[in-house]
Amino acid sequence: MASTADTTGLTFTRNPHPAPVAADARAQVLANPGFGTTFTDHMVEIDYAEGQGWHDARVVPYGPIALDPAAAVLHYAQEIFEGLKAYRLADGGIALFRPEANAQRFNASARRLAMPELPEDLFVEAVRQQVLADKDWFPTVEGGSMYLRPFMFASEAFLGVRPARQYKFMVIASPAGNYFKSGAPAVSIWVSDYTRAAPGGTGAAKCGGNYAASLVPTAEAFSRGHDQVLFLDAAEHKWVEELGGMNLFFVFDDGSILTPELTGTILPGITRSSLLTLAAEEGLTVREGRYSLDQWKADAASGKLIETFACGTAAVVTPVGKVASRDGEFTIGSGGPGQLTQKLRQKLVGIQRGEIADTHGWVSRIA
Ligand code: PLP
Ligand code: COI
Repeated sequence: MASTADTTGLTFTRNPHPAPVAADARAQVLANPGFGTTFTDHMVEIDYAEGQGWHDARVVPYGPIALDPAAAVLHYAQEIFEGLKAYRLADGGIALFRPEANAQRFNASARRLAMPELPEDLFVEAVRQQVLADKDWFPTVEGGSMYLRPFMFASEAFLGVRPARQYKFMVIASPAGNYFKSGAPAVSIWVSDYTRAAPGGTGAAKCGGNYAASLVPTAEAFSRGHDQVLFLDAAEHKWVEELGGMNLFFVFDDGSILTPELTGTILPGITRSSLLTLAAEEGLTVREGRYSLDQWKADAASGKLIETFACGTAAVVTPVGKVASRDGEFTIGSGGPGQLTQKLRQKLVGIQRGEIADTHGWVSRIA
């Protein structure tokens, strides 16, 4: 596999958009951005070729890219991505939240997909360049942020099955409000019969293929009236793993909190990791371990389990109110947001926005 490039001297060229979105049209989007539908004026591109390494870092007008029809990504899905947000701080500055953690996870995904790693500082600099090029694109709506999507794909035109020798890394940005359209106080979850990831597979990598495999189960959840799909483990179809695009936490009446352990089949969420730290600081007993669907149902019925929430960059911290599977459904607590869920959400969001002191060095100010 291609080795990591030496980035010394890699500087970004800038080609400003000749006709950016008009201010009034942009203001309309920023007042009600939704999630993932509108993109900013610019994007970042960096190319990679075996033997040459990473080269031609640039900020260019947002728009379609030319791709050879034989590009390996279109045939064998050699693609990885990340998701992180930029926030407008209380004092008007701009910050990223733990971007180096996304850079590290990106490289872990790259290794699993036989792709070249991107130096961590180059990943963070690319994200910074993207945000600064479009700093007029922060939502004005309460709770808004700029969602950033760094990604890399195999661009080499070759149909043999082997790791490609050419790649493109890009960053695009999208103003973001609430991920869930329903606006409901708590979301409803469908437990899928399908498997997302098996031991030895790509479950811990953030690769497009994992999400492709989740689309039939996701569509099934939607058609049954639910907001998200939940996957159980592949071997026993018993243990709770994660949602289609979020990790899960369980809150108990004894002051403990549990999240499925990282077994290699779930994504190691950065929100998950941050909440584990914050929950411990709140004095909760924090556990990473196995939890079965049956136990979850029994604990919800007995009152031992009082809250469940989903977490992720896009979802932030979202209460789970209802869980349904082929065997029937159950309600968590009163079916609405729980107290601890709200407390942890406020703490996390407060840190991300510079309203609560950042004692962990998570907030990375870029302007
Ligand atoms: N699990 C899956 C499958 C995801 O897509 C995401 C979102 O990125 C997460 C968990 C949460 O990860 P993070 O908190 O790093 O956004
Ligand atoms: C994220 O939270 O960044 C995700 O990737 C979730 C989903 C949009 C895929």
